Amino acid sequence: MKTFEIHGSTGDSFIHVGETLRNLEKYLPSGKVVLITDTNVKTYYENQFPSYPLITLETGEAIKTLDTIHQIYEALLKFEADRSVFIVGIGGGIVCDITGLAASTYLRGVRFGFVSTTLLSQVDASVGGKNGVNFQGYKNLIGVFNQPEFVICDIELLNTLPEKEILNGMAEIVKHAVIEDADLFAYLEKHSQKALALDIDIIEKLVYDSIVIKSGIVNQDELEKGARRKLNFGHTFGHAFEKTAGVPHGEAVSAGMAAAVAISVKRGRLSNENAARIKTLLQRIGLPVAIRAERKKVFDALKKDKKREGDHIYFVLLDGIGKAVVDQIPLTELEALFVN
Ligand SMILES: NC(=O)c1ccc[n+]([C@@H]2O[C@H](COP(=O)([O-])OP(=O)(O)OC[C@H]3O[C@@H](n4cnc5c(N)ncnc54)[C@H](O)[C@@H]3O)[C@@H](O)[C@H]2O)c1
Ligand SMILES: [Zn+2]
Repeated sequence: MKTFEIHGSTGDSFIHVGETLRNLEKYLPSGKVVLITDTNVKTYYENQFPSYPLITLETGEAIKTLDTIHQIYEALLKFEADRSVFIVGIGGGIVCDITGLAASTYLRGVRFGFVSTTLLSQVDASVGGKNGVNFQGYKNLIGVFNQPEFVICDIELLNTLPEKEILNGMAEIVKHAVIEDADLFAYLEKHSQKALALDIDIIEKLVYDSIVIKSGIVNQDELEKGARRKLNFGHTFGHAFEKTAGVPHGEAVSAGMAAAVAISVKRGRLSNENAARIKTLLQRIGLPVAIRAERKKVFDALKKDKKREGDHIYFVLLDGIGKAVVDQIPLTELEALFVN
């Protein structure tokens, strides 16, 4: 097990990579504790939960709403949770995002931690202190920045995750390597197949390195003005593909990274050789480098991107593997990609 410490403006967070859910109790204060999970995680792992009152949510993006937060407040009242309560979210990004918002607002904020049960939530959602829910079709419109006191990343729990969910996490791991860490990229080239087979040591290194990279970037820029934009690599096109083609986040981001790679080559920043390495790695992992989608719809979605300013968009390009740069590029240049 390796522990990574984050000292953010909203508090300190300890991320324990390779710790197990069975040891959760060790991290909890004596006193009232409430657990929040979803039906899938409950089915597989309730036998490993310490015995505290449990709130069980349904699954899927559709439950990331203020209604669910409302239900959690009601349950907390029913459990007579006061300011001393400690709340633990046990699940993927959805359970953790919801738990963080509920805990940060109940009684103006009570203590909370996470057990992260998906690869995506371990490598992405466990760092950065973002919590929130969707509102009227807008993703994560309502939320707060607030760090969980701890995050347990239990690698063994990933064995029951559907393959699609593993790929969602792998796409973000590749992203972290490509934008910031050439050594990690080379490591992935060497070990991608063992990673897909969920080799514990390899996944533990990938999760830990991802956390170090993401938190390094977040620390430079906690409130998302400059450096943090790098974490959007592949996500401008990715979100547009996700919306228009309805593909999973990881597939959309993978094809989005391939598009950003192509633009980086076109602009003379990235060599053809490095572009080919990135695409080959994505394909070896089983991620797509293109998505079938209606071009006009994709471009319309791009125009609505929140990173747009006037007729330009903040776009993350590569100067090399491990070297991301943020540039403002004209929408017309992106449009041109769709007409040849
Ligand atoms: N806060 C952040 O910084 C941040 C970062 C990235 C993503 N997110 C958010 O995270 C959400 C996506 O998270 P996710 O990909 O973890 O999805 P998720 O929470 O929906 O989990 C994916 C599926 O796997 C199931 N599951 C979870 N753990 C399991 C396990 N160990 N075994 C078997 N099944 C399991 C879940 O029930 C669900 O059906 C999105 O809402 C996104 O906005 C937040
Ligand atoms: Zn993402």
